Amino acid sequence: MCGIVGAIAQRPVAAILLEGLKRLEYRGYDSAGIAILEGPGQLNRSRTLGKVARLAEEVAAHPLPGLTGIAHTRWATHGEPATHNAHPHICRDRCTIVHNGIIENHEQLRAAQREAGHRFTSETDTEVVVHAIYDQLAAGHDLLEAVRNTAAELQGAYALGVIDTQDPERLVAAREGSPLVIGIGFGEHFIASDVFALLPVTHRFIFLEEGDIAELTRERVRIWDRDGHLVERPVKTSNLALDAAERGEYRHYMLKEIFEQPQAIADTLDDRLSGNRLRPECFGNEAEALFAEIKAVTIVACGTSYHAAQVARYWIEAFAGLPCSVEVASEYRYRRHVVPEQALFVTLSQSGETADTLAALRQAKQSGYRATLAICNVPESSLVRESDLVLLTHAGPEIGVASTKAFTTQLVALLLLTLALGRGRDIDETEEARLVGLLRSLPLKVEEVLRLDEQIAMLAESFVDKQHTLFLGRGEQYPIAMEGALKLKEISYIHAEAYPAGELKHGPLALIDEQMPVVAVAPNNALLEKLKSNLEEVRARGGQLYVFADFQVPLDETDGVNVIRLPETDDLLDPLIFTIPLQLLAYHVAVLKGTDVDQPRNLAKSVTVE
Ligand code: G6P
Repeated sequence: MCGIVGAIAQRPVAAILLEGLKRLEYRGYDSAGIAILEGPGQLNRSRTLGKVARLAEEVAAHPLPGLTGIAHTRWATHGEPATHNAHPHICRDRCTIVHNGIIENHEQLRAAQREAGHRFTSETDTEVVVHAIYDQLAAGHDLLEAVRNTAAELQGAYALGVIDTQDPERLVAAREGSPLVIGIGFGEHFIASDVFALLPVTHRFIFLEEGDIAELTRERVRIWDRDGHLVERPVKTSNLALDAAERGEYRHYMLKEIFEQPQAIADTLDDRLSGNRLRPECFGNEAEALFAEIKAVTIVACGTSYHAAQVARYWIEAFAGLPCSVEVASEYRYRRHVVPEQALFVTLSQSGETADTLAALRQAKQSGYRATLAICNVPESSLVRESDLVLLTHAGPEIGVASTKAFTTQLVALLLLTLALGRGRDIDETEEARLVGLLRSLPLKVEEVLRLDEQIAMLAESFVDKQHTLFLGRGEQYPIAMEGALKLKEISYIHAEAYPAGELKHGPLALIDEQMPVVAVAPNNALLEKLKSNLEEVRARGGQLYVFADFQVPLDETDGVNVIRLPETDDLLDPLIFTIPLQLLAYHVAVLKGTDVDQPRNLAKSVTVE
């Protein structure tokens, strides 16, 4: 979703801002823009529809000199993707802003501003902010006050970077509901939506809190909280390598991230296991006593993370014996719900900034849950900061919009949670030792499955000309089928739906004909015979079956039945193991179709608006 970069430096900033935008591309966007102050009162702007590379060409052709500037990648919410809607927005050559978030009261503000004589040049919600700031400046307020007074009028979410052309020695930033970090340099300071954007220029960051307004000059950074108090926020050093978010030899980030899974899983397990045991302190020192009191679990998440949560429901109920409910955050946050007694509220998120998940957490904190736990991949994210307990997945930066290693490391984290909750309940020492042993074997198993890459690349050819695909699974493989369908639709644009195989006869069977490929995940578990009967129902109606099955599954490859064999493993690990070929399948189909694998159309990596 929208990305922001800004700089006030002692050197030209255009290249820094463009590099920052390139590093934010993964968030998803449709247009880009940059505005640089050449001197007092002299602001130059360039905006383009499409990729940052186009903007860079534009800037190369018409250079933007200057030491202070802001830049933006826009993911359209209000107003079509178009150059005139791209940020930065400018009001009467006086001030310019970039914005991430949604201004909910933009219609009222716009009506009043129109009356007052402002001309609108875009259909964005953002433009009201720049006009409001202008009015404050015109009324004699300085930039800081202008932003503070404007912020008080805004409803909704925003991260803002603002420049006043009459006040070239500072850049002002504000945050409410959308992420923003400040990069600390020597004689230069920066803002950005995340740390990756600024890694080429600094590794030192301040993470703004909700309601903060910051003033950046070359020499210093000052921050005020929402009550107007000058506050000190800690400076944190990021240990991310500059190339942590680079593609290396891989053709796409997604492929790189699929192949990074053995390492990412090993990193997520690292330090959490000791001998045959789960380290009790891995959820924090208070967690063990607290978990002993928990009587129910609620998990809330979005997208791929929601699928991981769905798998966890099976695990937590089956292994820990605790009732577990799972819901998508955008639904959870808008309904009245009954909070079970002594319940643990878990949020699951790669980014830790997903607006709906964050809102659900904030609501849950007011609703009487015993405690909140965030399972997240980003240590400084809002979700992590606002939760009582945290378990970080150590997937490393995930750049491909279609989530892969973030998903499998979430599953690993959820297995650790199942173990922690199950101790003293249904999981005794022997069972714990067995589960820990299985977890330790996981990275190698995943490596084994990755060797199927070539075979799956060939299989992908059968899907390229299809319009629809059905994915089937049963039990904890049903959410894996959902995840497989999501991957395929996200990056290949083939319509894909997942069903619990037992539901076939209640509707989707009507879709089956020779044109309909049906993908089934079929590990050798207690539900196999049931699943096989469901597959027969498909075969009998001419459907083309692609069955992912382990070596023990007695299934013959016949006309219309393709079987892809996976190494056999324990039921517990099956959801992780069967995810990998579905990721590869989606990837190879998308490559064959020639889509933009890492930045699929219309999608964003970090969904910071509702
Ligand atoms: C977007 C991304 C997905 C992700 C979902 C939830 O839709 O494209 O890859 O699964 O958001 O994101 P989160 O960061 O909360 O896991």
